[in-house]
Amino acid sequence: MMSAQEFKSVLKTEADAVENYLSTCLNNRNIPQRLQAAMEYSLLAGGKRLRPVLCLAVAAMLGAKKEHIMPFASAIECIHSYSLIHDDLPAMDDDDLRRGKPSNHKAFDEATAILAGDGLLTEAFVLMTETAQHISAPSVLSAVNTVAVAAGSGGMVGGQQLDMDFTGRDDVSLEELQTMHAMKTGALIRCSCECGAILGGASAEEQQCIRTYGANIGAAFQIVDDILDETGTEEELGKPVGSDLEQGKNTYPSMLGIEKSRELAQERVDTAIEQLTAFDGAEALFLRKLAQYIIDRVS
Ligand code: IPE
Ligand code: IPE
Ligand code: MG
Ligand code: MG
Ligand code: MG
Repeated sequence: MMSAQEFKSVLKTEADAVENYLSTCLNNRNIPQRLQAAMEYSLLAGGKRLRPVLCLAVAAMLGAKKEHIMPFASAIECIHSYSLIHDDLPAMDDDDLRRGKPSNHKAFDEATAILAGDGLLTEAFVLMTETAQHISAPSVLSAVNTVAVAAGSGGMVGGQQLDMDFTGRDDVSLEELQTMHAMKTGALIRCSCECGAILGGASAEEQQCIRTYGANIGAAFQIVDDILDETGTEEELGKPVGSDLEQGKNTYPSMLGIEKSRELAQERVDTAIEQLTAFDGAEALFLRKLAQYIIDRVS
């Protein structure tokens, strides 16, 4: 058993460990001062650290040492932070607040924000490959490939393109919306879990369960993000609310309403939790709670 209180406290401890690692990971990289300031401005602005925490918990569930996985897990957070900087740009969602502070292009300027995103994406590859100090090279190679595919044009970047293509259209199908979500958000969340599995030495069967777990919480996560854009507050989210509606975005609530969206997110969470039946121990319990926590944000 793990009480809600215990879960929150473990989640905080895990996120703090990631925070700690991130705070020095860009040191001594010969980065021009303004660029490093912009990269760290967004990277160290808080955030739930969901993706690295998932990666670490999955790897630890399989017996890996968390400190060996930390550079890889943090690399995924660098990629996520880059995606947020670019997502907020005037040419994309044009949002001025992120993680409770002015968006990167507001605090700096557009050119610097674009380069800060580019910088974080590329530094991620430095961090990921550093994992080879402790983990076998074939596993690291396979995990890096998994991240590149998930974050790339057939994954997160492609999903962002579909998001732009679908904006303002009133004939987008639910299937198209699902594909867009699976790509823009699901892929990186799924790959955080998958890489934890690969680096933790999972069997093919274990990898498949963890992949399905990740894909389902990823889908639930974006449905919840869409709901919160309608029902949340700027204070709790640290980003503007009502932004999707204002821009004519196609979202779960715009297509199906809040209640139905919440139901579908819960179904995804239930499917995710089922994938973990073969795993036990504290980390497996934590991952089950983490899945439920995603939907608890809108319950
Ligand atoms: C926001 O992600 C963008 C989406 C993919 C929905 P998060 O809600 O994980 O943002 P942070 O990292 O906590 O700021
Ligand atoms: C973001 O989706 C997906 C990314 C890949 C960054 P959103 O545009 O809904 O994310 P928020 O609401 O701005 O965080
Ligand atoms: Mg967006
Ligand atoms: Mg956005
Ligand atoms: Mg959103």
